[in-house]
Amino acid sequence: MAIPSAFIDELVARSDIVDVVSDYVTLTPKGGSYWGLCPFHGEKTASFHVLPDRQLYHCFGCGKGGGVISFVMELENLPYVDALRLLAKRAGMEFPEGDLDESSRRRRGRLLALNKEAARYFHSQLHAPQGQPGLDYLRGRGLSKGIMTRFGLGYAPEGWDGLIKAMAQKGFDKRDLLDAGLAVSNQKGGIYDRFRNRVMFPIIDLRGDVIGFGGRVLGDGTPKYLNSPDTPVFNKSRNLFALNLAKTTKLGRIVLTEGYMDTISLYQAGFDCAVASLGTALTADHAKLLSRFTKEVVICYDADTAGIQAANRAIPLLEKTGLKVRVLRVTGAKDPDEFIRTFGRDAFARLLDQSENYVDYNLRQLQSKYDLEDPVQKTEFARAAAEMLSTLDSPVEREVYAGQLSALTGVGKAALLQEIQRAWNQRLRGAKKKQTRRDMTPVAQVQPRARQLRYSDPRSARAEEGVIRLLMLDPALARETAGLEPAHFSSPVLGKIYQVLRSRLQAGRPLQLGMLEGELEREEAELLAEILRQPEALENGTNAMADYRAMIDTQRAKREDTGEDALLAARDSYRKKKSL
Ligand code: GTP
Ligand code: MN
Repeated sequence: MAIPSAFIDELVARSDIVDVVSDYVTLTPKGGSYWGLCPFHGEKTASFHVLPDRQLYHCFGCGKGGGVISFVMELENLPYVDALRLLAKRAGMEFPEGDLDESSRRRRGRLLALNKEAARYFHSQLHAPQGQPGLDYLRGRGLSKGIMTRFGLGYAPEGWDGLIKAMAQKGFDKRDLLDAGLAVSNQKGGIYDRFRNRVMFPIIDLRGDVIGFGGRVLGDGTPKYLNSPDTPVFNKSRNLFALNLAKTTKLGRIVLTEGYMDTISLYQAGFDCAVASLGTALTADHAKLLSRFTKEVVICYDADTAGIQAANRAIPLLEKTGLKVRVLRVTGAKDPDEFIRTFGRDAFARLLDQSENYVDYNLRQLQSKYDLEDPVQKTEFARAAAEMLSTLDSPVEREVYAGQLSALTGVGKAALLQEIQRAWNQRLRGAKKKQTRRDMTPVAQVQPRARQLRYSDPRSARAEEGVIRLLMLDPALARETAGLEPAHFSSPVLGKIYQVLRSRLQAGRPLQLGMLEGELEREEAELLAEILRQPEALENGTNAMADYRAMIDTQRAKREDTGEDALLAARDSYRKKKSL
């Protein structure tokens, strides 16, 4: 995808990181840089740091960091090009759409058009004679005509080419149908309909485009649900069923269910805030997406073990985005759909109001692993629960739960609070140690960070990082690097970054973290941000550069010496392969 590099450079230059971050985070200036509450994880004390002179952000809490483009990508959950679009709009620059890979854009457009026609076709089948079984099935599950229309439900008739033929009339060919995942090819090179004799659930994205389908068998056949495969327009782990409807709910929360039918049943009963993940476990992308539209998510999964396990996995993902998480347990029914149809909407509304916050939920989960009749197990439970409660930030919360726990276990509240405090102190000590270790690191002796531990030659790598940092901070120092080749670097990744910087400088282009984020792999860009964040003695850049170069040369000579020993050479090359 060729977007002119000059456009990107100008866009980044016009998108000051402090301005852009300020659109989302309240920043407080402090000594030449800015601090705020991290938008990527829930926190109460500011550990999110923005450095205007280096045009980068970094969170000391969750470790996220990068330049202006990666900030927008992360926060808005956007792919690279869309982040550029957003920034361009913000900066009042016209995005060079025409230069985008024209054919891939046209391809996406075509697949979306096909999906839309297919959805129309499936829906129309509900009212055709051959669609009677589908209509009967949906009615049998208690859905009204209005709801079928609202969700654009449909029916894929029996037979092998109903859709293929209908779409051919609209001008779509074999290639289109295969690419959209609506048809499957057979061994003879022909194609047949993927969805046959199934009721169809179109999956609609936030823009209102039909991006894929789920299809359910009418009876007990397998697979029960068949979903579109991932296509150029459909990605299961980034989209949620019915979010296009739930995003405008006035109910103040989003209810997360496991299934299409759960979501639709809830909607029909007046809860227009339900969404479902598409037959996959909830991902971090889903969580981020939800956090854009609501402050509170109520997990409402099936009552079985699988549902409980899925909820346990979803909680921390949602929590991490700063969402308030509650868990609703349906009782007397296997899932929300069955519950509503058995007990009615008011009963569900009560469940929703009683839904536990995740602390209660986690406590109960923990409790179910112990036999509280047994004194030994009861003590163990009290200790484990105290450990868990020690992760709560609020002293009031800790106090309240200690009271509950005391009533439950008969262990005195004071003793429990002491236990909580002990676990809390221990965690704090661990965190503090890490922080001071970082703060006290002198410029020239940067401690090997976690990532550097994977460098095959850490001493050289540190100097290589230094060269990169100096170039970024003062491109004029490029003249001090004459003769230094990427191949002299011990770390292939650092060598690559150096190569990228060097060719930009040779082309007379500016250097800024945000401008490089499209040219580097994600991991490489993260590493570069981390390198750039480290302090550097710029006043004496020329000397510093000379020192770094000397270290690189020395280490290289050493490596070549040992290289004569065949065994060592073999080991080195093995390590190099494994290292960055
Ligand atoms: P109904 O039986 O129609 O009420 O469905 P349900 O929503 O109760 O289904 P279930 O709890 O079995 O599954 C929940 C969700 O998991 C469904 O909505 C699908 O998205 C997905 N799912 C279920 N079965 C399958 C399957 O066989 N294949 C795939 N890919 N996904 C499935
Ligand atoms: Mn279910």
